[in-house]
Amino acid sequence: MAEEKQPIGGLHFVGRKEELMAAKRSCRTLAGRDVLIISHQGGFYAIDSYCYHAGGDLQSGDIEEIGGKLCIICPNHKFKISLVGGEGLYKASAPREEPRPPHAPQWFSKGVKQRVHVVTETAGGDVYVRLSEEARWRESDFYQGEKGEEERAKAAAAEEEKKKKKKEKKGKM
Ligand code: FES
Repeated sequence: MAEEKQPIGGLHFVGRKEELMAAKRSCRTLAGRDVLIISHQGGFYAIDSYCYHAGGDLQSGDIEEIGGKLCIICPNHKFKISLVGGEGLYKASAPREEPRPPHAPQWFSKGVKQRVHVVTETAGGDVYVRLSEEARWRESDFYQGEKGEEERAKAAAAEEEKKKKKKEKKGKM
């Protein structure tokens, strides 16, 4: 990546369109923030790289349309995150709402949990990301920066421990 293309007026050059499309998922550290740039069906999306739930790396998450929203599914515990708004989605039954049949599950929003960023491209095929300037705390902020790296390591260690205990428990059965 050419050095002279780095931050221009709040925009961060992240690559050439064809390069990002071929890669499908590209990670960039922009002003100290780890951002995942996703190319999907002709569109670009940029979100914080680590899941708001426990810092899972979203890079290998599947992408699916869920409840009418394009989402990335965290590989760790399968949380669904909308790519456009950063909402966390969950499925639940709303038996009292008619005329749906009782207990028909549907998707609901937990609100915005993951910080999302704006992607723009020039006519010449350069792609830029403008980092979110929204002042409100988003849960994915917790896993960013140096402190976030420590928190991700702690979460990964806790996950390993959980898996180990589960395996031991199974071995005793
Ligand atoms: S870390 Fe992403 S779902 Fe738990």
